[in-house]
Order: sequence, then C-alpha cells, then structure tokens
Amino acid sequence: MAEKILVTGGTGYIGSHTVIELIQQGYKPIIIDNLSNSKLERLDQIQAITGVRPEFEKVEMCDKAQMEAFFAKHTDIKAVIHFAALLQVGESVEKPLLYYSNNLLSTIHLLECMKQYQIGNIVFSSSCTVYGNPEHLPVNEDAPIKPAISPYGNTKKMCEDIIRDFSMSEKQMKSISLRYFNPIGNHPSALIGEEPHGVPSHLVPYLTQTAKGIRSHLNIFGNDYSTPDGTCVRDYLHVVDLAKAHIAAIRRLLDVQDCPIWDYINIGTGTGYSVLQMVKAFESATGQEVPFQFAPRREGDVEAVYADTTKAKNLLKWQTELDLEDMLRAAWAWEQKLAH
Ligand code: UD1
Repeated sequence: MAEKILVTGGTGYIGSHTVIELIQQGYKPIIIDNLSNSKLERLDQIQAITGVRPEFEKVEMCDKAQMEAFFAKHTDIKAVIHFAALLQVGESVEKPLLYYSNNLLSTIHLLECMKQYQIGNIVFSSSCTVYGNPEHLPVNEDAPIKPAISPYGNTKKMCEDIIRDFSMSEKQMKSISLRYFNPIGNHPSALIGEEPHGVPSHLVPYLTQTAKGIRSHLNIFGNDYSTPDGTCVRDYLHVVDLAKAHIAAIRRLLDVQDCPIWDYINIGTGTGYSVLQMVKAFESATGQEVPFQFAPRREGDVEAVYADTTKAKNLLKWQTELDLEDMLRAAWAWEQKLAH
C-alpha cells in the first residue's frame, strides 16, 4: 500500500511541485495548509497534472488544538515534509515577532504531534541563507553557519536546531534538513508556479514581469561586487528537480536502515550564474528582451553562493537534471499564463 506522507504547506509553490512528485512516485500525500499564501485551486491543478486529487485539510498549525484534531484522525502518516512558513525576507524585518511566532510555533506543534503519534521521519525545508557570505565556494555543509541577516533566515536556522535537538532526544525520530539554493521555474505544464504578491522581490518573477511589460526595467542590485561581471552570483535550480530531492530524502529516511538520526544536505546544481548572465540566458532562451539598469546594492545581499553537491549525490543519489534554459523557458510560459 502507498505510504502516506504529510506535506505541510503543500498548496504552496515548492510544496505543490513536491506533492506532484510524491504522487508520481507512488506515495500518498496528504496536505495541510492555512491558505494564507496559496489557493485551494492548487488541488485542481495537481489533479489535472497527476490524475489524483490529494487529500487536503485546512489547518492553522499555530493552533495546537487544530493540529491535535488533525493528527487524531490521520494515524497512518509515515513521514512529514515541512514547508509551511512565512517566507518574505523584507516583511520579516518589519514584523519579526510574527515570523518568530509563526515559523517556530508551527514547527514545535508539528514535532509535539509527531511525538504523540510516533511519527518518526521529517524532511525540513531549509535554506542556503544559513551560510551567509561563505568563505569558500562551492560551499559545502561543513562551512560555518553565519548569523542570520533577517528574522526569516534566523527562523530557518532556529527550526533546523529545534529539529536536530528533538531528533537527538527522541529514539524514533530521524530528520533531514534540505538547504535549498535558489529555486526557480515551474512545472512544464505551466499549470502551477510561483504567484508573487505585488512587486516581486525575487529575481526571476521580476525578470519575467519586465519581459511581459508589467515593469519598465529590471534593477540589477549592484555591479561592483568581486565577481567576474560585478553582479551577484547564485545557484539557480529548477523547482521540479528540487521537488524530486524531497522524495529522495523521504526514501532515505524510510528505507535506509543506518541513516543518521539527523542530517543537513545542500540542494543546488553546483553552478553559479550572475544576475547579468541570467538576463542574457533568459533573452536567449525566450527571445524576449529584458531592459535593465544598474541600481545600488540591496542591503543584506550575499555576493556569491553556490553549492557543493557531493553530499546530495552520495547520500540521496540525487542531482539536478534540468538546465537553465529549461528553468527560464518554464518561468516565461508560466508568466504568460498569469493574469496580473
Ligand atoms: C532570497 C532570500 C533568501 C531566500 C531565497 C529563496 C534575500 C536577501 N534572500 O535569496 O533568504 O532563502 O530568496 O527564497 O532576500 N536581484 C536583482 N534585481 C531584482 C531582484 C533580485 O538584481 O529585482 C538580484 C539579487 O540582488 C540577487 C539575485 O538577483 O543577487 C537573486 O535574488 P533573489 O531572487 O531575491 O534571491 P536571493 O536574494 O538569493
């Protein structure tokens, strides 16, 4: 029988792509989400892509009573993938308490319920933001953890710590934190993707909106960094590849007997591209022109970061399959479908 996997935040951008992969790889996902940053229609789109409508329950994870009621009904969950979180860096600086209470409380309630119902496996959605401005590139998992630049980044680090300490204290508990680099793109059907609210803060949605004419030009934040062309370097990976990394992590937790009780693994391509290279790659992949201007550096930006992917290859038997052209074409196809 298909193993049941709880996906918190499963109607969100990365969550919904992961639900599709779970279904396609023979698992039975069940989603909880408070729909604060996603819509119920995601279930229709997941069904259109996979032929399966995943189980869904609207749950506010910060409300312990709602969490307890959910777990009491679903006692056959084998593992959890925990995406649900507030995730806007700028907003987290303005409203730190909201971010700390939401992201920490939801994680603690989840772990308490997992303990109560003896669910022993969790994959946590973390970020390369924990490395800050790394001294060595590509950055591997032994690199020192830097003080977080934003409350959002700090909640990722704190949740990693909470999950680690909990895994050490509970005999049946095993955990993997996946440290994502920069996920972009969307499912090739262009039925699901990222839906930014207002002016996008991430590069690729801003870039596609500029190509569409919604924005007059892209501001490239800083051209005086110590990088080959002066603009920041990041490791962009296709969200479908990222989704597959979660299934590999679940498989490791459920199927590998001697898997350590907690681990943390970089999820990226291993290649860095500058902002200028991204603009040029987008133009050549789609034939769309992207007007841009150089603007001052954005506060808190890291100069360059890309992943050492050795650990993911060795432990998860996972590596990216899709290239930059796939990601940017998919992002453009999705942008063209979005009604702004
Ligand atoms: C951001 C978050 C990071 C989070 C990650 C994934 C910040 C400081 N960091 O990473 O914590 O884990 O998203 O959600 O927000 N850029 C422009 N013009 C734009 C937008 C971006 O030049 O209009 C540049 C940025 O300066 C950066 C690169 O594009 O060099 C990528 O930016 P972005 O997509 O926002 O991701 P990160 O900042 O890497």
